[in-house]
Amino acid sequence: PAPGWTVDADVVVVGSGVAGLTAALRCTSAGLRTVVVTKANLDDGSTRWAQGGIAAALGEGDTPEQHLDDTLVAGAGLCDEHAVRALVTEGPDAVRRLIATGADFDRADDGEIALTREGGHHRRRIAHAGGDATGAEISRALVEAIRDRGVRFIEHALVLDLLKDAEGRTAGVTLHVMGEGQHDGVGAVHAPAVVLATGGMGQVFSATTNPPVSTGDGVALALRAGAEVSDLEFVQFHPTVLFLGAGAEGQQPLVSEAVRGEGAHLVDADGVRFMLGQHELAELAPRDIVAKAITRRMLEQGAESMYLDARHFGAAMWEQRFPTILAACRAHGIDPVTEPVPVAPAAHYASGGVRTDLHGRTTVPGLYACGEVACTGVHGANRLASNSLLEGLVFAERIAADITAHGPRRSGPPVLAAEPTVLPLIGPEARREIQRIMTGGAGVLRSAASLSAAADALEGLRLDAEEERKAAEPGVDAWETTNLLCVARVLVAAAGEREETRGCHWREDFPDRDDRDWGRHLVVRLTPDRR
Ligand code: SIN
Repeated sequence: PAPGWTVDADVVVVGSGVAGLTAALRCTSAGLRTVVVTKANLDDGSTRWAQGGIAAALGEGDTPEQHLDDTLVAGAGLCDEHAVRALVTEGPDAVRRLIATGADFDRADDGEIALTREGGHHRRRIAHAGGDATGAEISRALVEAIRDRGVRFIEHALVLDLLKDAEGRTAGVTLHVMGEGQHDGVGAVHAPAVVLATGGMGQVFSATTNPPVSTGDGVALALRAGAEVSDLEFVQFHPTVLFLGAGAEGQQPLVSEAVRGEGAHLVDADGVRFMLGQHELAELAPRDIVAKAITRRMLEQGAESMYLDARHFGAAMWEQRFPTILAACRAHGIDPVTEPVPVAPAAHYASGGVRTDLHGRTTVPGLYACGEVACTGVHGANRLASNSLLEGLVFAERIAADITAHGPRRSGPPVLAAEPTVLPLIGPEARREIQRIMTGGAGVLRSAASLSAAADALEGLRLDAEEERKAAEPGVDAWETTNLLCVARVLVAAAGEREETRGCHWREDFPDRDDRDWGRHLVVRLTPDRR
């Protein structure tokens, strides 16, 4: 659709989680005309839902080197060590700057930042806020700072496509805005630098910890714009998501790893602690190992869930340390103070995304990516717990520094949407079908047969939509569903290609890690005819 209105800026930041708002604040401080565009309200993304915390070597005796080691082990041979080094060495100061921006972290009795443990960490390294409401506090502080500093933002704005100039440089974005007065309808922000910080794609599966807005929009935009995307097969399933029944769909309540970090036990249907003897860290093994162990035990016992037993915390500790989780459990009729909590794995985090260098630059000049939408190389085949908020902070700052160092290079007038959001648009009614196909075929346990059935079913949806009578009316629901189908197809293709088990990619038919053939990344760049 042709833009009905335009706004000019030096930088447009797409998304308003920790990554987007940090990038916007730093760009604004550097004097750049910055506009944030976000699909719902400023605080509606995934950041607000983060519980456990933010990992950084802040504790006595801890060092960035130890944080690096734990990150590389979790990443199962596919981390970019340079990117991880940037993350862990710049992390502690980035957290201190976040505190200076206004985020209030929990303190220990001596006044130092209180630190807990999570899976894969050999030390207490996770800073938290409000007990188990870390993301909500970070979001509150950043949104307040954005408003205080007068950063321009447009809410309810779904970004459709990247604009480029005649040389192929980024020149802005087109977007669809709903109900924002002068910016209603389809418009454009012209800017020579675009920062994608759109978050993840958890909504591609039936049950996920991600909010409804996580529909893979940034990855789909990048694919249409011809940018490289990498590691999409590495979807992390969080081991302990509150189990609300086999048919539960949409966003599910998380039960943070920090609950295990403080000493909760995972038990099976017979009350047996099954992580003992499976890994030296038992319940605090890296996330993929715990998710697999839970899934295996569920299959062995024919059970729909396992249980997290933290009755020994007592009421006072539950209320003080995990108020959010306690309230969520009680809202569903489960009392963790008196009974074990039923849990099962659910889709949680996209370790892959839009490929960037160490400065957050994608392969399209002027297009940057940070946070969950990006693949910076810090997560490899499996993200270490609580490294995601940190990645958002550190790489957003790196992007702002890069844009500032080079000045916002003027692009020529936008001559075309790189590949305008093309029909066929997929009708919103296909959303559940995509989720069902993905959960059955590309979920926690995959095989050639399940992936090829998923690929066929997704292709069927695309072909259906291609018949003119089924093409959907343009609108946010249809664009989101089209984006979900786009990222689902690429994810399934990558998962089918990677014939090994590594990190959070688990193939029933290739149960071993294969370093000879697969110690490498799968990089995808769609040619115009495949977009
Ligand atoms: C959690 O609190 O368990 C989630 C932490 C994370 O995903 O990094």
